[in-house]
Amino acid sequence: MNRTKPILAVAISIAIAFFSSCSSTENDNGNGVSSSSDETLSSVSSSDGNLSSGGNSGGGNSCSGGNSSSSAGNSSGSNSSEASSSSNEETQPSVSSNDGSSSSRVSSSSSRISSSSSAAAAVSSSSATTSSSSSSSSAGTPTSASSVDSGTKFTPEMLALTPGATIAELNLAWYSGREGTKTAVRLFNASGTLVNTVTGTTGNATTGKSWHKAKLTNLTPSTQYKYSVSNDEQNWSHEYDYTTPPATGAWRFVAIADPQIAAATATSYTSWAEVAKKIKETENVTHVVCAGDQVDNMQGDEKEWEYFFAPGIFSNIPVAAIKGNHDPHWANIGKFEWHFNLPNERSASSTDYKSKYNYYYLYNNVLFVGLNTGSLFDTDQLSTYNTVVNLFKTVITEAKAAHAGKYDWLIVVHHESTKSVSAHAEDVEVRNYREAGLETVMSEQKVDVVIAGHDHTYARTHPINGVVYLTLKAASNLKFYPVKKSLITSNIAAHSKGIEITWNQENDYYQIGEKVIINSSDPEYTVIDVNGKTLNFDVCTWKSSGTKCGDTDKFTLTK
Ligand SMILES: [Fe+2]
Repeated sequence: MNRTKPILAVAISIAIAFFSSCSSTENDNGNGVSSSSDETLSSVSSSDGNLSSGGNSGGGNSCSGGNSSSSAGNSSGSNSSEASSSSNEETQPSVSSNDGSSSSRVSSSSSRISSSSSAAAAVSSSSATTSSSSSSSSAGTPTSASSVDSGTKFTPEMLALTPGATIAELNLAWYSGREGTKTAVRLFNASGTLVNTVTGTTGNATTGKSWHKAKLTNLTPSTQYKYSVSNDEQNWSHEYDYTTPPATGAWRFVAIADPQIAAATATSYTSWAEVAKKIKETENVTHVVCAGDQVDNMQGDEKEWEYFFAPGIFSNIPVAAIKGNHDPHWANIGKFEWHFNLPNERSASSTDYKSKYNYYYLYNNVLFVGLNTGSLFDTDQLSTYNTVVNLFKTVITEAKAAHAGKYDWLIVVHHESTKSVSAHAEDVEVRNYREAGLETVMSEQKVDVVIAGHDHTYARTHPINGVVYLTLKAASNLKFYPVKKSLITSNIAAHSKGIEITWNQENDYYQIGEKVIINSSDPEYTVIDVNGKTLNFDVCTWKSSGTKCGDTDKFTLTK
C-alpha cells in the first residue's frame, strides 16, 4: 500500500502543525461544535484561524507553541497519594503532532518500584452493587509473617483489578464456584510480610458461580505489593504482584477500546491475547482504560469473559472498564457489574442499568471519569438520553469537587463516540447523545480529552470548545469499520466537524492530519505518557509481523 503523503497534504500538515500548537477554545454554544471548526484538511487552516488561544493565557490569538507552557515536568504538587498541583480549569490543551515513524516504545522515567513500606492497609469493603454478604474489618488474624506463596489452594476465576478511588486504593473482583461464601484478600509487602487482610462482598453470579469484590486502602505510592485472594478465608490463591502508581512525576497508562471478545470467533480472542501481551510487556503501565465492549454477546456468555481475562494482565495491572452496548447487563449471565469493582460508582438508581456504571478516580495528576453511554438504544426516548446526560454532568461535577486543585487533566472515557467517522457516526443513539447535550457537557465541564470507541476505527479531533475527542480502533481484530467516505466527502454532517481526516482515493488510504489511517483490522492500543502538563499519545498497532507505534497517530497535548 502506498503510504506516501501527497505534497498538498504535507503542506497542509505544516499548517496543521502550526495551528494545532495553539490552545484552542472556540465559542461554546449549542452542541459544542462551532460552524467554523475544522472539517477537512482543506479547511483546517481557515477554521483554525478562528480559534482563540487558550484559556487564561491572555495571549489573544497568539500561539505559544509546543512545550512553552509552564510544564510541571516532574513537579506536581504534594506528596499525598492524590498529588498534584493546579486544577485544569483555567487552561485547555494545545495539540502538536509528532513525527511518528515506527518506533519501539521507550520506557520512561518513574520507576514503579520502590521498597515497600509497612503502611498498614486499612480494611474496607467494596461498594458492591448488589447483594449479600458484607464487609469491613479484618478477616482472620493478620499473623506475623505469613509470606511467600505456600502453594495454590484456591484459584479465582477471571480476577480483575480495578483502579481504586485514588492510587491509595485498589479494587478487586473475581468469580469462584459456590463452594465458598466469603471474600478475603491478603496484602503482602515486597518481601512477603503480611500487611493486612481485608474482607469483601459476594453474591450469586451466573448459575453455579459467585462474584466477589473487595477493596484495599492506604496503599503507598510507587510501591511493590503482593496479594492473594480467598473465598473461604482458609484456602488462598497464588500471590499476585501489584505495584502502585507514582503519586507525582511522570507516569503512564494505556487506552484501548472494543476488544469485543466473541466466543465463536477465535481471532477475536487470539488477537486480543497478543495485544494484551504487548501491553503487559510495556514498561510502567499503571493501568488500562478500556472504552467499552469488552465482550460481544449482549445476552451474556461467560466464555467471552473468560477469554477477555485469559491473558492474565488484569491480575497485575488494573483495568478501568467502561460499559459498552455489547457488554451484557440485563440477563443474569456474565453481567458487566459482576466482573468489575468500580471506584466511586454513581447511579441514579441501583436497579436501572441505564443509569449505572458511572464512576471516577484520581491517578496522579489526572482525574478520570467513566461514563456509561452503552446502555441506551434507539428505542429509548430522547428524554431518557437527557436524563442520562444530566446524570453524567452530575458525576463529573462531583468528581471535580472531590478532587479540586489536585489534578492537571480531566479525561472522560465512555463508549459511544460522538466524533467518529465510520459506521456508527450517525446512529440514532449517537445522534441522541449529541442532541441531549453530551458534547456541551464535555466543553462546559472543561474536559480536556474524551476517549471513546464503538466505531472501530481511529479518529482524533483538534480541540473543539477545548475538548480533544479521540475515537480508538478496536483492541482485537473482530471488527474493523472503514472510514465512511460520505462523511469525508460531503462534509455536511455536523459531527464530522473538527475531525481532520481525508480519504485519498488515488492511493486508497485515510489520513488524519499528518497521519495515515491504514485500512485494516489490525488491533490497536494507545500508550499515554503523562508528565505534569504534558500528555503524549502514541497509538500502537499490533501486527503479526511486529507491533508498530506512531504510524496511526502520535501527538502531544500541553497546557
Ligand atoms: Fe459498541
